[in-house]
Amino acid sequence: MSADVNNSKRRLLVAATSVVGAIGAGFVAVPFIKSWKPSARALAAGAPVLADISKLEEGQMITVEWRGKPVYVLKRTDENLKVLESDTDMLADVNSDASKQPDYCKNSARSYDKHAKISVMEGVCTHLGCAPKYVPDLNNPFAGSLGADWKGGFFCPCHGSLYDLSGRVYSSMPAPTNLPIPPYKYESDTVILIGQDGSNA
Ligand code: FES
Repeated sequence: MSADVNNSKRRLLVAATSVVGAIGAGFVAVPFIKSWKPSARALAAGAPVLADISKLEEGQMITVEWRGKPVYVLKRTDENLKVLESDTDMLADVNSDASKQPDYCKNSARSYDKHAKISVMEGVCTHLGCAPKYVPDLNNPFAGSLGADWKGGFFCPCHGSLYDLSGRVYSSMPAPTNLPIPPYKYESDTVILIGQDGSNA
């Protein structure tokens, strides 16, 4: 297939997104933008989808649909990344040995070294498949029961599983493993192709 055909297919599959205001804001739903969704046929075929992160600010998350599943794309802060290196005691699978993720995401940020702030993960709880809520800080309706030392992460409203900002599940939760990370690669600094492997070299 020629490069032109590939490019034109990809343009059709752009699946960007709506931004969730996070820092200092209350919880906001994370809707899909239906009009930008890839076609059902393309999704069923597992076609990769593009995510434009050019406008994504620190603390914000967008949701992209890939293979019928929500994929969270989150931009974290330097402070978040420091927490992710030190929150290991409370996690069930710190290095994601039992969790689904590409080898190029084997680090505390679970992301590309060059783009450590950007996290890409499936928004599907590994217990029974609910969509965990993004709870970036305590200024959030879901944060009430999480304790004063909550440093941000995800809360599953179905049975209470907690994940950190890399999608790593806390110990003793109903969810057994971390949020899965799909294959993905950078087309440029601001465009991610979800559904196709890259390399962290
Ligand atoms: S589905 Fe998430 S905790 Fe049960």
